[in-house]
Amino acid sequence: MDLGLAGKTALVTGGSKGIGSAIGAALAREGVRVALCARTTAEVEQTARRIAEGTGSETLGLTGDVTRREDIERVVEEASHRFGGIDILVSNAGVPGGIGFGPIDRIEDANVMKDVETKFLGTLRAARAVVPHMKRQGWGRIIGIVGLSARYSSRYVGDRNPDGNYNYSGGPRNLAVIHLMRTLSHELGRDGITANAVLPGATRTVDLDAMLGRRSDREGKSLDALRQETSSMNAIGRWVDAEEVADVVTFIASPRSSSISGEVIAASGGAGLGVFI
Ligand SMILES: NC(=O)c1ccc[n+]([C@@H]2O[C@H](COP(=O)([O-])OP(=O)(O)OC[C@H]3O[C@@H](n4cnc5c(N)ncnc54)[C@H](OP(=O)(O)O)[C@@H]3O)[C@@H](O)[C@H]2O)c1
Repeated sequence: MDLGLAGKTALVTGGSKGIGSAIGAALAREGVRVALCARTTAEVEQTARRIAEGTGSETLGLTGDVTRREDIERVVEEASHRFGGIDILVSNAGVPGGIGFGPIDRIEDANVMKDVETKFLGTLRAARAVVPHMKRQGWGRIIGIVGLSARYSSRYVGDRNPDGNYNYSGGPRNLAVIHLMRTLSHELGRDGITANAVLPGATRTVDLDAMLGRRSDREGKSLDALRQETSSMNAIGRWVDAEEVADVVTFIASPRSSSISGEVIAASGGAGLGVFI
């Protein structure tokens, strides 16, 4: 299938590493000119260079913090100026799992607010900035990257949570993005713009591999055993790679996905046993 993406332009927030950089690379391989944004300048510029070298597509690495309205507006301005518009927004910036850890009697408002600021308001700000460009051209794709905690209570198995595994902002911030995509889909559908959420489950990235390595040292379990344990609740019985999530996003970003809008598309390997989810 020709996805019809060649010549399109995209902005991927949180594009310097992990799922975001895999999405940037997958789009670039389809001939999309891709701007990546993240807070760490050296890393985002290096990733943009690496993707350009590997794909031959034009890329741009831009410094920006999605919690700051002026940053995201500048990033959109720079990318659209360089590329002559923005066709695709992938709002991916966020800390996997979130930072609003319980237990409930010790949860910090500031951490909850930070998660909401980054993922929900970050997505809303990016959408607000790109929509005028998309409306002008009568075509656009807005994709919010969410996560399993939108569907399940948030028990995060990681090492950023000294006081407990339950997280009270990872899920709500993701649900808020899903709600935003649904509303955008209705407001913008007649302008040729779709808005969808893509929902990864436990996804292999360099950082999450390193986290698993630290857990393996701490708990004296092998890496393989931990991978098995943490993927035991999905249908395919293994972690999904960031590149597999990127493939799904690439299809949703393409003109071929025109009948899909306001939806949540899981790329989780079939996580969970529920039927109506
Ligand atoms: N990996 C998983 O298993 C998994 C599962 C479900 C959902 N997700 C979601 O997928 C997305 C990516 O996760 P990941 O595992 O790829 O994370 P990651 O490897 O930690 O990458 C996160 C990216 O976001 C950027 N970022 C973070 N805060 C930002 C901000 N305020 N402004 C701009 N950029 C920011 C980071 O760069 P800087 O730090 O330099 O800004 C980096 O480029 C997240 O939204 C996460 O919740 C991940």
